[in-house]
Amino acid sequence: MTTTGIPPLPKAELHLHIEGTLEPETVFALAGRNDVALPYAGVEDLRARYDFTDLQSFLDVYYANMAVLRTRDDFAELASAYLRRCPEQGVRHVEMFFDPQAHTARGVPMADVVGGLTDAVDAHAGEVSAGLILCFLRDQPVAAAEETLRAAEPYLDRIVGVGLDSAEVGNPPSRFVPVFDRARELGLRPVAHAGEEGPASYVREALDDLGVLRVDHGIRAVEDEELVARLRRDRTPLTVCPLSNVRLGCVPGMALHPLPEMLAADLNVSVHSDDPAYFGGYVDANYAAAREGLGLTDEQVVTLAENSFTSAFLEPAARDAFVGEVRSWAGGRPA
Ligand code: ADE
Ligand code: ZN
Repeated sequence: MTTTGIPPLPKAELHLHIEGTLEPETVFALAGRNDVALPYAGVEDLRARYDFTDLQSFLDVYYANMAVLRTRDDFAELASAYLRRCPEQGVRHVEMFFDPQAHTARGVPMADVVGGLTDAVDAHAGEVSAGLILCFLRDQPVAAAEETLRAAEPYLDRIVGVGLDSAEVGNPPSRFVPVFDRARELGLRPVAHAGEEGPASYVREALDDLGVLRVDHGIRAVEDEELVARLRRDRTPLTVCPLSNVRLGCVPGMALHPLPEMLAADLNVSVHSDDPAYFGGYVDANYAAAREGLGLTDEQVVTLAENSFTSAFLEPAARDAFVGEVRSWAGGRPA
């Protein structure tokens, strides 16, 4: 239940970087426990630096803060803190991104990263279903991505897919063909960030060269009419994160966000939170931005929630059950 007594709209969270849920207070708590020196005077000083000008200005702080994550328990606590929030947000299913290269490069074993995250997933299995998507850092060499995939092979039963994130411009999807080919051979589902800061052509490449099943962000696809027609025809899921796009300057303001245009074009969009500890709110705040900041109707908001489940890597029975829950929620609401 929410504070209004109305249960929250059921939804799936498909675009969430678990490291992006590291709240400033947790950065300080873990730094104290792990004896990591921080270059900030305190929590408020750190928060004051969340005034981003673009994707890179965010990534600099995001990677720096990760230095406090050292042990299997740290990863378990990070993911548990996030999963505990899910019921109040109506989140029934999560496919969370993680960035192993950002940890293994600091000497944290892959076993501790995946082990900690799966400890949390298992501990919260009664409240929310959750899967992991291993992301490759596109601003690092392809060989590092290949090495990361090899290091993850013992844990593939706990990983549903692979993604591609980090600094987009100048790092096109086509660079990562070999490692995505291998990931698909291993049975992993491919997704990629594309068309966030980078051009619509990166969305095409993600589809054509990497065979992605979902596009993360994809907001710049609207600049290419033919691509929009293709995305509509194929019902390609696009995981859109309105607060992130505004906070990183990918759109000049919420009122100019292309989500209404994407819905009007009948694209398969859903709404998510990206890095909620950094961008001013979890998935409910992104839904609120869509509803209040973009003037979406109740019906459109319900469509976003349905799309979140139909776009998830769920078995058909589970997917249909969740969609049923969305419909009953919508049917039970006063007009
Ligand atoms: N890693 C974490 N958040 C990201 C974003 N919004 N874009 C690319 N890489 C990311
Ligand atoms: Zn993202």
